[in-house]
Amino acid sequence: MTRVLLAASECAPLVKTGGLADVIGALPAVLASEGVDARILLPGYPAVLEALGDARPVDMPGGLPAAMTGRTARLLEAAPGGLPLLVFDAPALYDRAGGIYANDGRDWSDNALRFGAFARLAAAIAAEGLALSDGPWQPDVLHAHDWQAGLAPAYLAFIGRPRPSVMTIHNISFQGLFPPSVIDPLCLPREGFTPDGYEFWGEVGFLKAGLMAAEAITTVSPGYAREILTPEFGMGLEGVLAARDNVLSGILNGADTTVWNPASDPALPAPYKTPKGKAASRAALLARFGLPEGPGPVLGVVTRLAWQKGIDLLLAALPGFIDGGGKLVLLGSGDAGLERQLRDAAIRHAGSVGIEIGYDEALSHLIYAGSDAIAVPSRFEPCGLTQLYALRYGALPVVARTGGLGDTVIDASPAAESAGVASGFVHAPGSVRALHQALERLLATWADRAAWERMATNAMRQSVDWGPSAARYAALYRRLSTP
Ligand code: ADP
Ligand code: GLC
Repeated sequence: MTRVLLAASECAPLVKTGGLADVIGALPAVLASEGVDARILLPGYPAVLEALGDARPVDMPGGLPAAMTGRTARLLEAAPGGLPLLVFDAPALYDRAGGIYANDGRDWSDNALRFGAFARLAAAIAAEGLALSDGPWQPDVLHAHDWQAGLAPAYLAFIGRPRPSVMTIHNISFQGLFPPSVIDPLCLPREGFTPDGYEFWGEVGFLKAGLMAAEAITTVSPGYAREILTPEFGMGLEGVLAARDNVLSGILNGADTTVWNPASDPALPAPYKTPKGKAASRAALLARFGLPEGPGPVLGVVTRLAWQKGIDLLLAALPGFIDGGGKLVLLGSGDAGLERQLRDAAIRHAGSVGIEIGYDEALSHLIYAGSDAIAVPSRFEPCGLTQLYALRYGALPVVARTGGLGDTVIDASPAAESAGVASGFVHAPGSVRALHQALERLLATWADRAAWERMATNAMRQSVDWGPSAARYAALYRRLSTP
């Protein structure tokens, strides 16, 4: 059995700001069926500690500077809801009210230390192993996720106990860049502060460090794996990645089909297995947003409100869609300017547009179930999970052809329709005109109810589970851990 430590800063359902949490929460179970014993190392934020239930203290590995972790730091082992967790309970770093990365829109000023210490612990666990309740446990592979864990592969090398590591990029636009003044507090060797090491244009780059040190690099779709090699998508790291192209691959995310299952979802008024069964959820959704029933399609959106997600493009294309009889329901939070524009749109198109600003897990499930289609007009999208949930819930995705969106939605071309596989509407990214045309195609298909029903059935049948990708991760871990 291959043992893997997943070091990540989020994990559903305990703590989530986006898709990273869903992926980490799903991986241990799907990897177990591939013969991988994966455990998650997670920072002990208040929400995590509260959810732990019966937790057992575990001896910390040696060599961790108290100046980094704080004096009262400890490691806990727990399995809430069956999730195999190791929790880094370091009150000096994580015991605070507010967001996990930021407070009132400003990043925590000690983020370098909060996640540097986390990465240092991950490296120590990989190097030394732990005495867990079911016996000694040492990972064969350290798998670091995003910049928050990016220093872990580098620390492994610095402490002179190299063990195979994987660095996964969930979103290259977040790189964890800090001034060189963090080098000493993080106990990083100064000689590593070079372009071949953790230096990135004069700053300390957490993600960069992981990309240089890890044996393998993955990202969350084959499409994004190609895109990040280009200046348009690489966010300055394209050169670093090009130099390591031989170890870079894309492994597509899946959906956790135990959590995202319309046949058993407790957030829905009535479970369903075919598109016809969506009617009760649709009625509940419209009622929830105070919108009248009507003949037009309901387009749903569940999103962080950030430039990446292209919601400004959707706002620009919206009037045409509303004129064509469509309705929009959107749940999201983030950028204050977008929040304001969305609230304005709800007033301007009263009766056709419903906006909920906030974060609401249960409502997100109702939106996937009750909407006829789901829009994901992203400018770039490493994988995207909302289109996978849309497919599973029989809501046709309208997505930009970028990253994982293009890899997962089969456009309603005549060929795909006659082959019985068309599952959504795919358009060129970053263009209001292209999005407008996709929405026109959506309205035209909606007018042919038999064609719509066929596509929704295709969507629900399309496989979105973790199976093939879990097998790819398992094969990668086995290859790396076999001497
Ligand atoms: P990203 O990680 O870039 O935000 P993904 O599509 O991979 O994009 O994942 C987003 C996840 O966060 C999905 O599970 C989605 O349902 C959820 N989500 C995003 N915004 C909200 C919100 N306002 N309320 C509830 N869930 C949300
Ligand atoms: C990031 C990406 C998103 C991806 C998620 C999980 O947040 O923006 O596209 O689905 O990570 O890998």
